[in-house]
Parts: sequence; C-alpha cells; structure tokens
Amino acid sequence: MSKQFDVVVIGGGPGGYIAAIRAAQLGFNVACIDEWKNDKGGPAPGGTCTNVGCIPSKALLQSSEHYEHAAHHFGDHGITLNDLKMDVSKMVGRKNSVVKQNNDGILYLLKKNKVSFFHGRGSFAKAVEGGYEINVAGAASEVLTAKHVIVATGSNARALPGAAFDEEKILSNDGALRIGAVPARLGVIGSGVIGLEMGSVWRRLGAEVTILEAMPGFLTAADEGVAKEALKAFTKQGLKFEFGVKISKVDAEGEGVVVSYANAKGEEVTLAVDKLIVSIGRVANTIGLNPEAVGLQLDERGLIVVDAECKTNLPGVWAVGDVVRGPMLAHKAEEEGVAVAERIAGQHGHVNFATIPWVIYTSPEIAWVGRTEQQLKADGVAYKSGQFPFLANGRARALGDTTGFVKFLADATTDEILGVHIVGPMASELISEAVVAMEFKASAEDIARICHAHPSLSEATKEAALAVDKRTLNF
Ligand code: FAD
Ligand code: NAI
Repeated sequence: MSKQFDVVVIGGGPGGYIAAIRAAQLGFNVACIDEWKNDKGGPAPGGTCTNVGCIPSKALLQSSEHYEHAAHHFGDHGITLNDLKMDVSKMVGRKNSVVKQNNDGILYLLKKNKVSFFHGRGSFAKAVEGGYEINVAGAASEVLTAKHVIVATGSNARALPGAAFDEEKILSNDGALRIGAVPARLGVIGSGVIGLEMGSVWRRLGAEVTILEAMPGFLTAADEGVAKEALKAFTKQGLKFEFGVKISKVDAEGEGVVVSYANAKGEEVTLAVDKLIVSIGRVANTIGLNPEAVGLQLDERGLIVVDAECKTNLPGVWAVGDVVRGPMLAHKAEEEGVAVAERIAGQHGHVNFATIPWVIYTSPEIAWVGRTEQQLKADGVAYKSGQFPFLANGRARALGDTTGFVKFLADATTDEILGVHIVGPMASELISEAVVAMEFKASAEDIARICHAHPSLSEATKEAALAVDKRTLNF
C-alpha cells in the first residue's frame, strides 16, 4: 500500500529540505526523503552543505583562524601565550558536533512543519495516474505516490581520472574535513573555492600547502583586481601555487602521494606530499534515482535538464540545486526550492540569478555580486568604478585586519550598481548590503547617501560608492 502525498522531495540538502518546508507552509501534504547517515547509521539531513560542505568547512576555518591569531597576532594586542598547542582531534570533534546540531535542527524543522521524513534512498518506480510512484529503500521499505516530485539530490566531488578517492591519502571534501593530524606536506589539485578554503585551514595549522591549478590564471570567476589582491595575500601567508599545470599521474602506492605533472613551462616534474586534496569541481548526483524508469532527461554532463523555472521534461517533476545548471551554492539551491514550492502552489516564485552572491571564506574573505570588470568590458557596457581600501577604514585598523578593498562598478550613464567586489575582513557579511542594493536597482549614489554606523567595516562600502563619483571623504 503506497503512502499518498501532494509533494515528495527526494534529497534533504538545502535545496530539498527548504523546498519541503515551504511546500508544507503553503498547505501541501509533503514527504522528504534523504539517505545521508550519521556515524551511528541514523538520519543526517542537510546534505553536502551540512555534513561535508558549508557548515563543517566554516567550523574548521574558524578553529584554524583562532589558532593563527593566537600564534601570530595576539602579541600585537599585548597578549602572551606560552605553550600554545593545537588538538586536531578536539577541533574535528567540535566540527562534528556543529554538524550534528544542524542535522538535529533540520529534523526538528521538518517535524515542526509537519513534513513526513523518510530515511533512505528514493528512486523513481513508475508514472501512475495523476503522478509518480517513488520507492524508498531504507531501514523499512516504503512506496510513496505524489502528484509533484522535487528532485534535489545534489552533487559529489569529481575525481581525477585514475586517482579514485580513498579518503585516506587522496581526499575529496569529505576526507579533507576529517584529517586526523596536521600533514607536514599537503597537496591540493584545483585552486577553486574548496582548494582555497581547505588549503587555508591546514596551512594555518602548520602544513606546507602546494596548490596545483590547470588554468593559467587565478580565480578567473572573480573580479581581476580582487583575484590579484587575494593571490598576493595568500602567497604572503605561505600558500604555494603553480598555475597552468597538467596532471599526468597520481601515485598513492608508497608512503605518501606523488603527483606527476607538466608545469607551465612544459617540464615534467613531481610533487611528493603526505595527503592530497582533489578539488576540481563537482558532478551532479543521480546515483540510485532511477531516472530511466520515468524518462527523466539528463544532459551530457549528468545534470537534470530543467527550464528557467526548474521544470524538467516530465509534468509535475521539478529539480533544484546542485543537480541542475547554475552555480553550486547552498543559497541558490534554497532559493530554487522556495520558488518551486511556490510555483506548485500557483504562485510566481522567482530566483534572480544576477544577484546571487559568491563568498570564499578565506582570510581575507572574498565576496562579490553582479558582474566583474572583465565581464562588463566583454559585454561592452560603459561603467564607472570606485574603490576604497580597508587600510583607510578605522574599524579595520582597530581589528588589525586592513588587507583588501571594496570596489563598486556602476553604469556610466545611470549610476545603477552593476557589481560589487570585496576582498577583506567580513566580506561575507558586507556583501549583503550590495545584494539588497542591486535587488532594488540602487545607484552608487544611493549607497553613498545612506548613513552607515561608525566605526564599522560597512563604511568602506559607503566610501567605495562615493569613490564612483570621485569624492571619498577618508581617502
Ligand atoms: P546536497 O546538499 O548535496 O544534498 C543532496 C542530498 O540528497 C544529500 O543529503 C544526499 O544524500 C541526498 N540524496 C541524493 N540522492 C538521493 C536519493 N536517491 N534518495 C535520497 N536522498 C538522496 N555553498 C555555499 O553556498 N556556501 C558555502 O560556504 C559552501 N561551502 C562548501 C564547502 C564544501 C567543502 C563543499 C563540498 C560545498 C560547499 N558549498 C557551499 C556548496 C553547497 O554545499 C551545495 O551547493 C549545496 O549543498 C547544494 O544543495 P543541494 O540541496 O542541491 O544538494
Ligand atoms: P571550483 O570549480 O571552485 O574549482 C575547481 C578548480 O579546479 C578550478 O580552478 C579548475 O580550473 C581546477 N581544475 C579542474 N580540473 C583540474 C585539473 N585536472 N588539474 C588541476 N586543476 C583543475 O570547484 P571546487 O573547489 O571543487 O568546489 C566545487 C563547488 O563547491 C564550487 O564551485 C562551489 O560552487 C562550491 N563551494 C562553495 C563554497 C563557498 O561558497 N564558499 C566553498 C566550497 C565549495
């Protein structure tokens, strides 16, 4: 006997659990299926984000940043510490408990919103009269039917050909978040978001970190000025980069790992490390979903094909988050989940791709929204720019963190903000003002005329907006 729902969500990551909650708020009878297991085999909803992504990485970034401050910067504040030690297993244990708090919080939220949670793998069985039948393979097998199905099965780390993840020496994001002791030499393949964040964690704790990147340039998605400033800061901190490499072999047979590659000059060289993080992007996860049973269309990269509204090729089947096109970000997945639930309810849910913020939680942090200077040039848009350094911001000086700047890009004629790019302290928080401004189609002058608290880092945002009109007050 199958259990009947209005909406079944497959996947309980930020895309799935948020879609389920929003659909329940809108009055639907909703089920959410998620297969993630905690170390005791119990449910651990929250997906990649909660279990092996956003949350645990930020926990380790916080711990390692505290350590770095204690080791190198407390002295500036007159604080002396003798015998500073780092207990890696305690740090990882704290990270695990932060993850568990989030897993438990999501289970509570699902219950509070009367979403039925099923722990197990959901797969399409067949199309039935007025909907779809979904099998759940878990501790107990279940069959669910629903008129609407939202697929939010997320993504997995991409492996290098011929170098499968063993999570002991060749690590995906999963293994990178539970290294038990600081490796003396850590290799990272890919200088993208994960490579920078994870490389920073282990570098701060004492590892010698070498990052090998295939592209000739650094962080090409970011504004060039920001990427240049960030690379300067990371290099000064001790991260080693090699660009334009071509990996030929990864050998983990011996003690450590030996990576063979051609460097930018075309010379064949090797890098010997104790552990290797491979962070070269992610692939959509449809393992076990059985899309063939209903004819759900995937593209050549394995992503579920959707239109601008997250509709798949099947009536009543929607897909959101990492398993579809667009940036692989938790907040993008959430926005799509909310929008789909609202569309199912006949409302006009909307996701504005032009104002999705990007944040990299390194030190300095990097954050941006909208177009970069190089994109505006390529698009032939006439623009003005304004930049303000944190060095001239009182709060940044008091914090002892004056790296970086805020940069505004505004339309040359209308002054509408086209992009805001930040490298520096708390960029992750500062970027929200820019997102709001762009959503409301604000001009740079609008931000320049708003009263910002003093002393605050947000004054750098105001000053960068003033700089667009060449009238900074403090620089
Ligand atoms: P996921 O979070 O991957 O969730 C999918 C869920 O579906 C999983 O629980 C999976 O087990 C389950 N599932 C899959 N198939 C089935 C099935 N057949 N049946 C039942 N369940 C199934 N993004 C940010 O915005 N900010 C960050 O700081 C950030 N940091 C990151 C750090 C790391 C190390 C990584 C790897 C990613 C990070 N991301 C970050 C990206 C973010 O984690 C993803 O964009 C986000 O988790 C995508 O959400 P999702 O719901 O689409 O998929
Ligand atoms: P990424 O796409 O950010 O970076 C991958 C890097 O690897 C690129 O620079 C690419 O040129 C390089 N690369 C690809 N193949 C290579 C090869 N064979 N050899 C050497 N270099 C190679 O992917 P990453 O870091 O794996 O992260 C995956 C996704 O997870 C991100 O795109 C992002 O969407 C999400 N994420 C978001 C975070 C955040 O928002 N703060 C944090 C971490 C991850």
